[in-house]
Amino acid sequence: MDKTYRIITYGCQMNVHESEKIAGMLENEGYVRSDNDDIADVVVLNTCCVRETAETRVTGNLGILKKSKELKPDMKIIVCGCMTQSDGTAQKLKERCPFIFAILGTHNIDRLPEILRDGHNGKTYVEITDKTKINEDMPVKRTSGINAWVNIMYGCNNFCSYCIVPYVRGRERSREKKHIIADVKKLVSVGYKQITLLGQNVNSYGNDLNGSTDDFPSLLRDLSAIDGKFRIKFMTSHPKDIVPETVDAISESDKLSHFIHMPAQSGSDRILGLMNRKYTSADYLSKIDMIKNAIPDAGLSGDIMVGFPTETERDFADTVDLVSAVKYSNLYTFIYSRRKGTPAANMEGQVPTADKKRRIAELIKRQAQIACGSAVACVGRSYEILCSEHKNGKIVGETRCGKAVLIDGDASMVGKFINAKIIKNVNSKLYGAIN
Ligand code: SAH
Ligand code: SF4
Ligand code: F3S
Repeated sequence: MDKTYRIITYGCQMNVHESEKIAGMLENEGYVRSDNDDIADVVVLNTCCVRETAETRVTGNLGILKKSKELKPDMKIIVCGCMTQSDGTAQKLKERCPFIFAILGTHNIDRLPEILRDGHNGKTYVEITDKTKINEDMPVKRTSGINAWVNIMYGCNNFCSYCIVPYVRGRERSREKKHIIADVKKLVSVGYKQITLLGQNVNSYGNDLNGSTDDFPSLLRDLSAIDGKFRIKFMTSHPKDIVPETVDAISESDKLSHFIHMPAQSGSDRILGLMNRKYTSADYLSKIDMIKNAIPDAGLSGDIMVGFPTETERDFADTVDLVSAVKYSNLYTFIYSRRKGTPAANMEGQVPTADKKRRIAELIKRQAQIACGSAVACVGRSYEILCSEHKNGKIVGETRCGKAVLIDGDASMVGKFINAKIIKNVNSKLYGAIN
């Protein structure tokens, strides 16, 4: 009987894609994806530590897996991803959960096959390194339907004062442009219709490629020149680094999505300063204007954090004003979570939980009103829609500006571009009919 595997993924798209690489390695080793969650031979937890809630979910799941391992003693439980790389966590996990087979850091996940083959005398094996060489030869078992994730860079240099990512993912490393282009060409030739480029701050792509003039706008132009009908998306854009050349590359391309994820985090200049974001709310709004002027139908999404240390009601009101001014089509809202090892964790003036909860609820309410207004405005308009999946008897598709639309249709439409008119809006959900 084939050996089976199961991967449990937490965190961002970066991790979702990394899990596809883990799956690729395991399948090369002869493992097959498990249909039964409880009895896989190898269970991989690909962890996140960006907020405390993510870590709590991982520890909760380890408790459940401990029981599964009692029923199936030869089960190999592997813990990898960002949490393992944060200070002292690997050691703590090893002591508290001796049933874990191996703990692997974010920089050496490619060692998984070798580590699995070794028994390590029944002891938890820990391998965390700071070596950060990009491995271009990782197999990938893609799981995201018509979308293919493509890393253009790894790591982050920005050190926002609340954020653990630079500590657990290391400094920015850009992939060479020729590798990215080769990947995208291949993915398009085998039928992927959407390519999503990944980086913590895509706008700094190429800064670390010594002696090269390759930058993000030139990458976008080169990828747009690849033959075929497909869409290119990317995330995340740091507001301080998005330049007019990038916006021009988008507006001049027939392939680039008009959807831009550009987190503001806060609307208060004082808080943005403390966050080390390196822009003011006026700078942010002028970047939004630059985008809207060049790409009139641009869809915008962002991340906002409430309850950063010392945030007052006045600061929060500035955030609500910024959100009202931008009119995001999607907004991801977070309660500030204290991350050990980051500068903000030691700041005075941590905000009481009750205030954080009230603020996030207010922000979500305000955003819902905005989303409702923009959904109403879509009714009657026509869009080119990429059909991405068939679910509950309907096609789920996306406009070029990133709006989700439900359309009557069958599974044969998945992966096709169609023109549809928005016929109704129900609680900000858009329904379309083929033109
Ligand atoms: N590189 C991306 C974001 C990566 S983390 C960027 O710069 O936008 C995704 C989001 O998690 C961040 O945008 C931020 O809003 C949120 N986040 C990061 N650290 C956090 C913390 N300590 N508490 C709460 N939210 C946090
Ligand atoms: Fe974290 Fe800031 Fe880097 Fe984004 S840009 S990953 S929020 S440090
Ligand atoms: Fe992503 Fe979480 Fe790591 S958000 S980069 S998986 S800390």
